[in-house]
Amino acid sequence: MNKKKIAIIGLGYVGLPLAIEFCKKKFDVFGFDIDKKKINELRNGIDRTHEVKKSELKNLKKIKLVTQIDKIQDCNVYIVTVPTPINDKKKPDLKNLIDATKLISKCIQAGDIIVYESTVYPGTTREICGKIIEKKTNLKLYEDNSGQLTSKNKKFFHLGYSPERINPGDNKHNLKNLTKLISSSSVFALKEINFLYKKICDKLYICNSIEIAEAAKIIENTQRDVNIALINELQIVFNNLKLNIYDVLSAAKTKWNFLNFEPGLVGGHCIGVDPYYLAHKSISAGYPPKLILSGRNINDKMPNYLGRKIKNYIKKKIKKKINILFLGITFKENCNDIRNSKNLILYKYLKKIFKIDVYDPVVDKNTLKSQEKNLNIINQINKKYDVIILSVKHDKFKKIGYKKIIDHLKKDGIFFDLKNMFGKYFVI
Ligand SMILES: NC(=O)c1ccc[n+]([C@@H]2O[C@H](COP(=O)([O-])OP(=O)(O)OC[C@H]3O[C@@H](n4cnc5c(N)ncnc54)[C@H](O)[C@@H]3O)[C@@H](O)[C@H]2O)c1
Repeated sequence: MNKKKIAIIGLGYVGLPLAIEFCKKKFDVFGFDIDKKKINELRNGIDRTHEVKKSELKNLKKIKLVTQIDKIQDCNVYIVTVPTPINDKKKPDLKNLIDATKLISKCIQAGDIIVYESTVYPGTTREICGKIIEKKTNLKLYEDNSGQLTSKNKKFFHLGYSPERINPGDNKHNLKNLTKLISSSSVFALKEINFLYKKICDKLYICNSIEIAEAAKIIENTQRDVNIALINELQIVFNNLKLNIYDVLSAAKTKWNFLNFEPGLVGGHCIGVDPYYLAHKSISAGYPPKLILSGRNINDKMPNYLGRKIKNYIKKKIKKKINILFLGITFKENCNDIRNSKNLILYKYLKKIFKIDVYDPVVDKNTLKSQEKNLNIINQINKKYDVIILSVKHDKFKKIGYKKIIDHLKKDGIFFDLKNMFGKYFVI
C-alpha cells in the first residue's frame, strides 16, 4: 500500500475529530475548509466545536490546515465531511457537497480515493458526486468487484462512503469505539478504505454497497425521529387527559421490550433533517412516506405547542408582569451547537410575550450572539425570577442542582422542568 496523504474536506463536528485521529496514526493529514476564520482559529489551537479533547489539541499543529485547494492536490485520499442541510422547503440542500466535490475535482488524479462521510440520501455519492468528478476530471469511476485493479494505467478514481455516527456532547460513544460502516464502489478500493479506517476505529462493518451504507445512516436518525414523535404525540394526548407523561413512561418502561424514548424538541442537523432526505428520495421513486413525514410534522410543531401551553399556564397563575429565566438554548444536552435548535424556537415564541433571560453554560456564546442579536444571554444568574423554564438537560444543570436553581425562583414562582431533569415535570 502506497503512503497515504489524506485530505479532510470540512473541519466541523465530524471532520475535525477525523483529522485528529488520522494524524495520531501518523498519516500525512491535510485539513481543508472554506471558512478562513475557522482555519485561523484551528491554527491557534482553538476548536469551536469543543469536540476535540484539550489534551489532543496539540495534534492540530501536525495537520496542514489550508484554505487553498491547490495545497491539497498531492493527496491521494479525500474525505468529505461538509454540511448537508435542508432548504426552506425542507428539501435536501446539496450545495456544500456539490461545491466541495467540484473543488476537489481540481486535485483528483487517477487512483485517488474519495470517501464521503456527509449524510445523504441513497444514490447521492455515486449518482451526483461520482458524476461530477467524472465530468470535471475526465477520469472514470472504478466499479469492479473482482478485487483486482487490472487496468491501472487507465484513468480511474474510486468512491467510498462511510457515514459518521458520532454524537456531539456524548463522551461514551466516539469515533474510536463505535462501529463504523464502510463501503466502496469496488472491492479494490474497499480494501484500501478498510486499511485506513481500521487504523482509527475499533470496529468496522462492511456494507454491500455505497447505497446500503447511505440508507443505513439515514434510517438510524429517521427511526429516532419517528420514535420521539410518537412520545411527543403521547405527551399531547396525556396532557389533555391530565396524566403526567413521565409517570406513564416510567411505568411502561418496566416492560422488557418497551423502548426508552422521552418527549423532546428535535433540532440540530441530523435527526430533524435526515428524514427529509429519505422522504425526498422516496418521493422521487414514487412513494411519499406517510409515517416519516407525519413524525416530522409532529416534532416540528412541538416548540409552538409547548410555548402555547406554557403561556396559558403562566397567564392563569400569575396576573402581573413577569420575568423568566430560560435554562438551555442549544439544540440538545451537553453540546454547544445552536443550529436548528428548537429550544431557540420555544424561547422566541415566549419572548414575544414575556421578558426572558437565557442562561446556558454550554452554548457557544460567540455564535449565539452573532446569530441572535436580540437574545438576552446572561453569564451568571444573580436575581430572582417569577418563572424558570429548564428545557435542555445539560449535565452542568444537574451539577448546579435543583435547590440552587430553585433559589432563583420568587415566592409562588413556577418551575417548568420540561425534561423532567429533577423529577418536577407537571401537566400543563
Ligand atoms: N455533527 C454531527 O453530530 C453529525 C453526526 C453524524 C453525521 N453528521 C453529518 O456530517 C456532515 C458534516 O456535519 P458537521 O456537523 O461536521 O458540519 P459542520 O458545519 O460542523 O462542519 C462542516 C465544515 O465544512 C465546511 N465547508 C462547507 N462547505 C465547504 C466546502 N465547499 N469545502 C470545504 N469545506 C466546506 C464548513 O466551513 C464547516 O467548517 C453533515 O452531513 C452531517 O449531517 C453530523
